[in-house]
Amino acid sequence: MNNRIFIFDTTLRDGEQVPGCKLNKKEKIELALELEALGVDILEAGFPISSPGDFDAVNEIAKLVKNATVCGLSRAVQKDIEVAAEALKPAARKRIHTGIGTSDYHIKAKFNSTREDILQRAIQCVKWARNFTDDVEFYAEDAGRTDNEYLARVVEAVIAAGATTVNIPDTTGYCLPHQYGEKIAYLINNVPNVDKAVLSCHCHNDLGLATANSIAGVIAGARQIECTINGLGERAGNTSLEEVVMILKQHQSTLGFHTNINARQLNPMSRKVSETMRMPVQPNKAIVGANAFSHSSGIHQDGFLKDTQTYEIIAPEEVGAESSKIVLTARSGRSALAYRFQKLGYAFTRNDIDVLYEKFLQVADTKKEVSDDDLVALATAHQPIPVEA
Ligand code: KIV
Ligand code: ZN
Repeated sequence: MNNRIFIFDTTLRDGEQVPGCKLNKKEKIELALELEALGVDILEAGFPISSPGDFDAVNEIAKLVKNATVCGLSRAVQKDIEVAAEALKPAARKRIHTGIGTSDYHIKAKFNSTREDILQRAIQCVKWARNFTDDVEFYAEDAGRTDNEYLARVVEAVIAAGATTVNIPDTTGYCLPHQYGEKIAYLINNVPNVDKAVLSCHCHNDLGLATANSIAGVIAGARQIECTINGLGERAGNTSLEEVVMILKQHQSTLGFHTNINARQLNPMSRKVSETMRMPVQPNKAIVGANAFSHSSGIHQDGFLKDTQTYEIIAPEEVGAESSKIVLTARSGRSALAYRFQKLGYAFTRNDIDVLYEKFLQVADTKKEVSDDDLVALATAHQPIPVEA
């Protein structure tokens, strides 16, 4: 089986649905070009029927993006698909993403329908989309809570109708990683024509499992991950692009997967998305949070200063982050203090550091973080201890 994992970025669609993250056309185009430069394989640019503004943005992106496939979302509605196709017309590579809810919750509550009817509507929407492009992705919304046997029937039928990618969304972020992995494995083992399409993971983060579920999905045989920068997306968000890319990279020797993403662009891209969407990144966010490469406790700092690999599995430059930081707090130790003094140009002896450390703790207990200015004040007030002959 091919070990290339396709990265389908939906920052501009699922990410942009987040309240407060709405982008204007110029911002969307700017981000689309940056995402293309990052190396995403498929770029979901929007939901063209949702508003004239989104139609225009998708249309402009379709004109400008050359290397990534540009994708537009639609419901299983003929007009949606026609409008998506129109918006995507100028694209060098285009994909229509269409689909319908397949769980009994969706079939009954949303559509007041039956499994048979939904199956026919799924087939029909793929056929409509195939009139405009050979690259059609079908989504089985709420696949995470869809009965596997029925889901397999839907997947088989949409592939037979011409879907080339089948998205298995855990729309509500319900599944446990082993359940999501088993769902993908079930489809691989029970859908006779599954080799004619790529299975895709689209996981939401309601239980904080979106990344774990996507990884379980590719281990089980899916070959596309749908994700967003900074994990933005409906409610608790989607799988975070930077996390899955770095998991696959870090574990390449055991999992054997690779992506086309330029990891050095991950931090610059995260900052750009955060600023443009006006959505701060939590400091402890993996890979791109402000504290992802900060060390503040004495035990960690001492180990890190002896060998960075004791407390860092990724070098910050590998993901385009600023160099690792030794942060001074009341939990820091003498080696960190000596290191920070050294960085400021002070070479104190061990005895000096012992004396300075007591004074440092007095300052540290009064504030969250001890700054360079505080250190200079401590160093200036200190009377160096004469070195014995
Ligand atoms: O979460 C979901 O199911 C979706 C689909 C529209 C793909 O975003
Ligand atoms: Zn989604």
